[in-house]
Amino acid sequence: MPITTCVFDAYGTLFDVASAARVAAGEPGRDGLAAIWPKLAEDWRLKQLQYSWLRAITGEHTDFWAVTQSGLDWAMERHGLSDDPELRERLLALYWELAAYREVPAMLTRLKAAGKTCAILSNGSPDMLDGAVDSAGIGTYLDAVLSVEDVGIFKPAPQVYDMIGARFGCAPSEVLFVSSNGWDAAGAAGYGFTTAWVNRAGDPVDRLAHRPQHVLTDLSAIPELAA
Ligand code: LAC
Repeated sequence: MPITTCVFDAYGTLFDVASAARVAAGEPGRDGLAAIWPKLAEDWRLKQLQYSWLRAITGEHTDFWAVTQSGLDWAMERHGLSDDPELRERLLALYWELAAYREVPAMLTRLKAAGKTCAILSNGSPDMLDGAVDSAGIGTYLDAVLSVEDVGIFKPAPQVYDMIGARFGCAPSEVLFVSSNGWDAAGAAGYGFTTAWVNRAGDPVDRLAHRPQHVLTDLSAIPELAA
């Protein structure tokens, strides 16, 4: 079936999650952070995701803003930064205005010109997603911004992927699902979406039950895949 609907993961896929720590590290008076910010960003992201998976498995859902804060608290303690509440507040504030990857607006413009439905499907809470979409200025390209809060469980639970068919009335085979998260691409591929894994870091593919059909280094070629 032709692709009618392009669905994007948000954090790490459209929005650069490392940009919060990178921006804060460049601000005056943050020498301690400047020395270690890539490691802090990595640990923050890893713990945020681990907590989301564990909360899904144990049925103890809380929203993504809560796991984002918990992940940051763990990472700040690991790097000896727990005594800097002002830095914590700054990093959390920056998470609401993450930079979009530079190719995002042109890519979405081309998809809309080709008549594709475009949406975000994210673990993010609705208000977090609204903040990021507004700050990146990409709201006009999106037909929907769907949050897992509507089903109360995080990806890769299949109930989350069900939200696409429920919203747009399309079959899984009409959907191109795009994620930078290997585990999310695997989940979506298993669900029946055509999937593209955006592997900016050149990581090995995740050894899970399903693999993405396409592996890209950035988002530029998405319009060709959807054509
Ligand atoms: C999201 C996270 C998983 O946006 O990146 O859903």
